[in-house]
This record gives sequence, C-alpha cells and structure tokens, in this order.
Amino acid sequence: MCGIVGYAGKNQAAPVILEGLAKLEYRGYDSAGMAVVNGDKIQITKSVGRLKVLEELTHGGATMPGTVGIGHTRWATHGAPSDANSHPHYNAQETIAVVHNGIIENYLPLKEKLVSKGYQFTSDTDTEVVAQLMDYYYKGNPLEAIIKVMHRVQGSYALGIVFADHPDEVFAVRKDSPLITGQNEEGCFIASDVPAILKYTRKVFFIENQEIVHLKADGMHFYTIDEEEIEKEPVTIEWDADAAEKGGYEHFMLKEMYEQPKTVTDTLMPRLKNNDIVIDELNMSDEDIRAIKKIHIVACGSAYHTGVTAKYVIEGIARIPVEVDVASEFRYRNPILEEGAMVVVISQSGETADTLAALRESQALGYKVLGIVNVVGSSIAREADNVMYTWAGPEIAVATTKAYSAQLIALYLLALKFARVRGKLDDKTFHEMIEDLKRLPGQIEMLLSNKERIQRFANRYVAAKDVFFIGRGIDYAISMEGSLKLKEISYIHSEAYAAGELKHGTISLIEEGTLVAAVATQDTLFQKTLSNMVEVKARGAFVLAVTNEGNTDIEKAADYVIYIPKTNSYFTNSLAIIPLQLFGYYVAVGKGCDVDKPRNLAKSVTVE
Ligand code: G6P
Repeated sequence: MCGIVGYAGKNQAAPVILEGLAKLEYRGYDSAGMAVVNGDKIQITKSVGRLKVLEELTHGGATMPGTVGIGHTRWATHGAPSDANSHPHYNAQETIAVVHNGIIENYLPLKEKLVSKGYQFTSDTDTEVVAQLMDYYYKGNPLEAIIKVMHRVQGSYALGIVFADHPDEVFAVRKDSPLITGQNEEGCFIASDVPAILKYTRKVFFIENQEIVHLKADGMHFYTIDEEEIEKEPVTIEWDADAAEKGGYEHFMLKEMYEQPKTVTDTLMPRLKNNDIVIDELNMSDEDIRAIKKIHIVACGSAYHTGVTAKYVIEGIARIPVEVDVASEFRYRNPILEEGAMVVVISQSGETADTLAALRESQALGYKVLGIVNVVGSSIAREADNVMYTWAGPEIAVATTKAYSAQLIALYLLALKFARVRGKLDDKTFHEMIEDLKRLPGQIEMLLSNKERIQRFANRYVAAKDVFFIGRGIDYAISMEGSLKLKEISYIHSEAYAAGELKHGTISLIEEGTLVAAVATQDTLFQKTLSNMVEVKARGAFVLAVTNEGNTDIEKAADYVIYIPKTNSYFTNSLAIIPLQLFGYYVAVGKGCDVDKPRNLAKSVTVE
C-alpha cells in the first residue's frame, strides 16, 4: 500500500532512494516519484508506471543531484494512477514536498477549506491536501507545521517531507502506517519497511504512532506530538539483504515456494523441546489454556485461509469451538466475545489495516490478543498482547506462499499444545503427530521437485476461463487457498466451493472441459468427495484431483491425479497446497503475467 523512502546523507540521494523503492515495490507499483533538495530548490520527477519508468526518466537518479530527498511507489487509493496523482505532492511554490502512505480520511473538508483560502489543487489525491496544509501552517519551523498538520488530519499516514529552506533535512511522521529509520556513516534513512535500508544498516528504529523523526546526514532526532524529544533504542535485524533478493530464481514467488521446507522447519523446530511443544511466547499457563472457552481467529486473504484450516484442526483435536472471521467483517459486526474467549489474529505483514483494527477492537472489549505474525516489529507484533512469530523471513512476492505455510505450522502447534494440556490427546497419538510434523519439510521438498509435471499440466490451462476448486472439511480450506493463488496471479476466474455445496447452483457453470480441481485428502470424506467429482465429470468437467498416496480409487473419477505423501489428516494442507501453488504459478507464467506484482494488488494492505 505505497512505499516511502527518504535519505539525508553524504551521497547523492536519488540513486539511494531508487534502490530503496525497488525493495518496496511489492507495496504498490502503479506509479513512482522522487523529490530531491538541490540548493534552495526542490526538484521533483514522478510518473505513472513501474519504478523502472522513473529510473529511466532520471537516468538512474543521475539527473537529480542533491543529497537529501524522498521517494514513493504508489498503490492508488484516491485518484487513478496518473502523473498528476503520483507522489511527491507539493505546494504551489514547490518549496514543500510530501510522500504519503495511508489515507487521509477528512481530506475533502480540509480541501474545501484550503480552496476557500485560495489554494489550487492539481491532483485528486488525499496527499496533496497534506502538502497544501503544510504550506498553510508553515512559518519557517518544520516541526511546528508538521504538528499542526497532525492535529488536523484524520486517518492513517506515514509521511516523508522535505522543505526547500531546510535543504539538509528530511522529516517523517507516522500514524497507523509503518515507518522505520536507520543510520550509518554515510547518512540517515527512512522507509516503510526494513528491506529498503537493509543494505545500509541492520540497526533499525521503529517509529511509533504520532512520533516525528528529523533526519540530517549526521544523525536523527525523535519527537512526540508535543514536541518533546525522545530517545529510541534500535532493533537489530537478523536476516540479511540476500534474503530479500531473487537469488537466481525467475520470480520471488518461485524462490519463496522453494523456501517452504526451511520456513516450516524454522517455525516448527524451536518450539519442539524434549518431546513436547513449548510456546513460551503464548504466556499462558496450563490453567489459562484449560480455561479457554472459545477461540476467535481473525485475518485477511491467505492468512484467513489458514484460520479456516485451524478451525478444523483445533476443533478436531483440542475440542475448543473456533470462530473464524475475515477481519474487515469482524471489526464492524459488533462481535460477541464471551468470558473465556481468546482472540488470535494472523498476519504475514503485521500491518494489514483491518486485522490491526480487529485486534484493537478485541482489546477494547477487554480481551487479550495473540498475534501470529511474520514481520518482526510490525504494528500487530507490537500491539498484540502476545506474539508467536512465523520465522519465514522476508516475503516479497505479493501472492504469499512461504508465510502461509509457516502460519499453518504455528496453528498446528497451538492446536496440539491446547489438545495436550486439555487432555484430548494420548501420548502415542501426540508423539506420532509430532513425528508427522517433522516429516513435512522433506515431503514438501519432494512435492516441489515434481514441479515440471505440474508445469506441463498448467500449460494446458493458460487459456482457461473458469476453474473450480472443491473439497470438504480441511480440503475445502485448501481449495480456498488454491483458488486464490490461481486467480490473483493469473487473472483466471476461479472459485472454491465446499464440494457438497456445488450442486446448489454453481454446478450450472460447469461446461464441457471446465477444469475442476478436487482436493480429497481427508480419509473420512473421501467417498463423499469422490461422488462430487463424478457429478462434475458427468457434466463435462475435466477433473484434476489432489489426494493421498495410495488412494488410487480416485483414478476412476479423475482425469489427472497428483498424489501427496502420507501425513496425519490434520496436516494435509501443508502438502496439498504445494502443487496448487505451483499450478497457479505456472499458469500465470504461461500467460506471461507479472507473477510477483499482479495487477491491482499490493502485499501489505494498510488501508481499509
Ligand atoms: C494481501 C496479500 C495476501 C495476504 C493478505 C493478508 O491481500 O496480497 O497475500 O494474504 O493481504 O495479509 P497479511 O500481511 O495480513 O497476512
């Protein structure tokens, strides 16, 4: 949802900013721009299109001299992608320039007021209001003007600001949109996310809500909204810059799919100790765990799909009722949380606006929230009462794969832990299930090594119009994710249906040759799903089946079968999703789609 970068240092700013923006392009990529302070003037270059358009326009930054500047890569909210709507935005005299991530909710009344005072606007964005309002309040003291603006604007923002008459300085501020800073001998940096500055420093300062940072080449200062200076401690980032590079793979998505065995190991192994599951981060005593009456899982997108899976797993083995909600629904449905309820929010980025709002809503109702989060130091990680990290490392491709797999593992661990403490699992089953978990990385690797077979199959479907994914129970949850993977990157319409539900309307869409992917990994439901496969096949569907090794019966009803290795039926999602990820990926590659940056999407959705 837009990426911002800023630099004040000894080197030329534009190339540093371009490099940083390249690492943030996953946040938005419909336009990009930079503002560099050059002498007492601000030079601005911006354009609709990918970052490479800006790189070409500025010859890699060469046409923009100056050592202080800000940059932006955009995911349009207010105003279509266009040169005029691209950031930075500025005042009429071009003496103040602003880049923004977030949404200014009251921009219309503010705009009206500014127009009545003679201000003219050149874009449709909410951000331009910030630039003009800054001009309105600016009397030579940047900090003072920024604070006045903060008092007037509502909504979410991370802002980078430069002033022509403060040519050595960059200012930044945030509320409900991520912002970090860092420093090395060459200068100081701001960015929306760590990868943008990891090349320069591993010591990162997380800016809290309504804090302001003031950067110069030789250091930075932090202030509260009351203009009080504050001290901050840096956090050391453990992963290195290579983790956010493609490393020889054609796409980040392929690389990240290949990282899944490691991701699963990294999330699992530190929590297995002495034949037991130890999740210290839970901060729950056995008594607390026994007292849970209900679990509410709240998330968006693929993270929501892991929540749907977890409902089956937790209810199945720990016998605790679970409700799963899409965060954008939960936050506005006045949810009923009763005594003994536990809230779990799941988020790769830790910044998804709706998930964060659901967390806050739950806390306001007096409930503790467990965050299952990938990005260390993200807003959800900082605001949740307890945090269980998925150690997937940076995920760059917009379509999630490895973070999804890590989330599943974290949820299995929770389910097993709760089941164990509540006396729902005998020793033997518990230990067998742990052994099954430990085998997952090797089994995932095996499935990945079969990628050519999936690729050949996928090539046949690059021209598909509609694809249906069906399954029952956990297989339905797997279908939801398989369907999302395909549609989000290949732009082929696909839907996931509970296999038994298809005949209540949707089956009328099945035509001769329509691809139906049936997931049938649940032994107890196998025959039922098989019947549903026969039903669609009888209506002309081409049936792709994903099932467990040994279920050769399926070949009677399927046209093409992918077998997954044996595991406990509660863990099959971790394996069955691999061929479906590969399928989505290869269909998209076959169609020539921009796999890592699908149209209209962004990885970190920091707006509602
Ligand atoms: C976006 C991404 C999805 C992701 C969802 C939730 O829509 O494209 O891949 O599942 O946001 O993101 P989160 O960071 O909260 O897991």
